Amino acid sequence: MGKIGEFITREREKQDISIRGLSKITGISHSEINKIESGERATPSPHHLKTIADALGINQIECFKIAGYIDESQHEGSSSRTLILSDFTNDEFNQIQQYASFIRAQRVSNQGEEPTVKKNNLKVASLFAGIGGICYGFKQAGAEIVWANEIDKDACKTYRHNFGDEYLVEGDIKLVDPSDIPDIDILNGGFPCQAFSVAGYRKGFEDERGNLFFEIERLLRVKRPRAILLENVKNLEGHDHGNTFKVIKSRLEDLGYHVHHKVLNTMEYGDVPQHRERIYIVGFLSEEAYNKFRYPDPIPLTKTIHSIIDVTEKKPLGMYYNNSKYYPELEKAMVNPNTVYQWRRVYCRENKSNVCPTLTANMGTGGHNVPLIIDNYGFRKLTPEECVGFQGFPEEFEFPADICNASKYKQAGNSVSVPVIKRIAEEMVKVLVD
Ligand SMILES: C[S@@+](CC[C@H](N)C(=O)[O-])C[C@H]1O[C@@H](n2cnc3c(N)ncnc32)[C@H](O)[C@@H]1O
Repeated sequence: MGKIGEFITREREKQDISIRGLSKITGISHSEINKIESGERATPSPHHLKTIADALGINQIECFKIAGYIDESQHEGSSSRTLILSDFTNDEFNQIQQYASFIRAQRVSNQGEEPTVKKNNLKVASLFAGIGGICYGFKQAGAEIVWANEIDKDACKTYRHNFGDEYLVEGDIKLVDPSDIPDIDILNGGFPCQAFSVAGYRKGFEDERGNLFFEIERLLRVKRPRAILLENVKNLEGHDHGNTFKVIKSRLEDLGYHVHHKVLNTMEYGDVPQHRERIYIVGFLSEEAYNKFRYPDPIPLTKTIHSIIDVTEKKPLGMYYNNSKYYPELEKAMVNPNTVYQWRRVYCRENKSNVCPTLTANMGTGGHNVPLIIDNYGFRKLTPEECVGFQGFPEEFEFPADICNASKYKQAGNSVSVPVIKRIAEEMVKVLVD
């Protein structure tokens, strides 16, 4: 049991409050409190700590200290204050949040589950960084993220919450001056895919968003990293009878890159139960590195949807369709508790492989529904946290408290499957450090 877990258990039991009771008072899920108390959650979120301390009426700073978020020597003056949670000003709390993000980021790169391979001093810049799915993959492969860019305000919030706020540049990539990017070995970019998607407008380079590929080209021309990883929808290769992909490939080759590409499905290459086929373009300046590089092999899918969802945990009422007009239809269609369903305009489709269908950025908005499952309390949609679980995000990832669900769903759907990136990144690292 971790120290902070023990402390909370002691304080809770002193007051004769059960875990369920604490969950009810705080709104934090029963299983999350269990994880915090048992020590399974090594880095409880500061927001959760604050809420729990508040509910139990215990000293907030004490909690942060025990959890390792505050170094006592930095807060000597604070011991004379009446340390009641609600006394923290928003600014103070934000500072603690930032510090906690920093600590969390340090822990990710120094110890814990990740990285599983040794640090290899390769420096990485991430374009269109989103909430950092590709960054996690490279970090887990032992590389260091030194620069990232993202335009979406909420995605930046989530990114900073998990990676700290040292290097993320918030804003339009078109405004980035390449000389502001430090020297890097690898550049990655999961460039916006709507323009190329089957579900999108099929306009490719004519579409404004399609043009963002040329931003990658602009930066490559100056930075000339040794390797690149670009990610996009499977359909990129076939778009406009192959012309879009031809342009991309030849522009990269004109810059001196030797380029591989392959479509990988998350459920076959990441041991994550999501059907997600994406194209991964890997390029190297060195022909030798290009020749040595191999995409990872498929691996068995050992995880099931129940590795990600906990059917025993009741979710907020708004997640359930029990009182909806669709209930009779869902009741007829949703019969298999071991798979994920998708509402399709007039019918509910079952995923026959017992995995989650491809998560999309527009789920949860205008008729694009979030996938559905059966739990012990009824028919409900996946939570945003479960969606990032279906992208293989690490346990310690969390959304900041002040982001709405629509935005969280968008961030999860826009992201990548971390274990697939990690496996490709490991192969890239192998040939680069050899
Ligand atoms: C498909 S997502 C990429 C996900 C990300 N690579 C990851 O690792 O999870 C595309 C991202 O590009 C961002 N984006 C779109 N236009 C942009 C621009 N002009 N400048 C910077 N970022 C942009 C979007 O906000 C979105 O987060």
